[in-house]
Amino acid sequence: MTAPPLSADTDALADLARRERFFDALRVALGDGRFKRLLLAKPRPGAGELQRVSARRLDLRGVPCLQLVHQHRTRELTENLPLDEAVARIDTLLGTSFSHAHLSTRDEELQLLISKRGKVALHRARVADDAADEAAAPADGHVRSKRRLLALDTPFLQALGVTDRAGALVPAMARKWKQINKFVEVLDHALDEAGLAPREGQPVRVVDFGAGKGYLTCATHHHLTHGRGWPAQTLGVELRAELVAQVNEAAAQCGLEGLSFQCGDVRDVAPERVDVMIALHACDTATDHALHAGVRAGAAVILSSPCCHKQIRPQISLPPLLRPMLKHGIHLGQEAEMLTDSLRALLLETQGYDTQVFEFVSLEHTSKNKMILAVKRRQPLPAARLQALHEQIAGIKAFYGIQEHCLETLLQAPAGA
Ligand SMILES: C[S@@+](CC[C@H](N)C(=O)[O-])C[C@H]1O[C@@H](n2cnc3c(N)ncnc32)[C@H](O)[C@@H]1O
Repeated sequence: MTAPPLSADTDALADLARRERFFDALRVALGDGRFKRLLLAKPRPGAGELQRVSARRLDLRGVPCLQLVHQHRTRELTENLPLDEAVARIDTLLGTSFSHAHLSTRDEELQLLISKRGKVALHRARVADDAADEAAAPADGHVRSKRRLLALDTPFLQALGVTDRAGALVPAMARKWKQINKFVEVLDHALDEAGLAPREGQPVRVVDFGAGKGYLTCATHHHLTHGRGWPAQTLGVELRAELVAQVNEAAAQCGLEGLSFQCGDVRDVAPERVDVMIALHACDTATDHALHAGVRAGAAVILSSPCCHKQIRPQISLPPLLRPMLKHGIHLGQEAEMLTDSLRALLLETQGYDTQVFEFVSLEHTSKNKMILAVKRRQPLPAARLQALHEQIAGIKAFYGIQEHCLETLLQAPAGA
């Protein structure tokens, strides 16, 4: 095994032992089928154009292999290596080209972190709730298994009260933990879909509107900087000053550089350039202001989970055919919500985004479970499609008698108004 430079002192021996424990865990997990995924992140100067390396298990003609995907700035290289060779390759890369290794197994998450001065930290956390899903996965590893991108012993989780001092999940936070993980998973896919990566050493810029206690803001920043190994500047905007003070303190405590929280109203904060815009459960039209700010700042990825839809409902004039359905208040509320968010999705498409609306975490975990995900298209929208979108929006509004949709009004205003 290629070891980092050894000095005679006990600290260096302890560093080496931690590294050995990580590689032992990797070999054991590969041997007994618990291996899920390995990621090398946080590139060092020696990595050149290489941004990260991910590994997954494959059987090629009966030979157990690891598939290593080397993600460079502008291309990806894939190699399939027998297990021993692959482990040796990972060992060489770790410390020379990368500072972080993240190993996910069916029942454990391990993170090996090497500082600039060669100090080695190893975090291990048990994970239990994926076991049933994993048991159903085919043994050849060709189907991607469910993965956790965030380990339970990530320091900010403790600082925000998701885990206790021993690093165990606080039972009352189980739903939040589920939501945070699901969110990071959605974000991770969206980053790939958008082809987003830091440009010429520039940090990826994130804004989270209505950041609240900062769970998702911290998770996003941690995922970008540790999971992806990218430089990132993340700003959480939140109305409540006491929450801002709390989370700024937690971020500083955990050494989350590049992450800060600002006290402010979504309506007044207009960042110039944003790559990822997040607005989860920002109340009523605060969601529209956040979407508008994201579009104006050129966000490549927009993740929004709307909440309390008040603007559209009083405007609805019941179409005669739907009157027997919508005379029930609960139905009218649901229709108003669907209408508001459908128009948001269509309006985002007019701005050059591919948009999806889906259930983000199941209803058993939270009632606020709808996600609007918009990913900036790399090609401009064909003129005919744009025309069709405008006609669809006008048609829907006319059908329900809608006079004003906040996002539409904001988008129609001249830039800077
Ligand atoms: C339900 S919490 C959600 C927090 C966080 N996004 C999450 O999902 O965990 C909504 C937060 O948005 C904040 N908020 C509501 N309207 C806002 C506005 N106009 N500007 C900034 N923050 C706002 C509230 O103070 C609250 O903390």
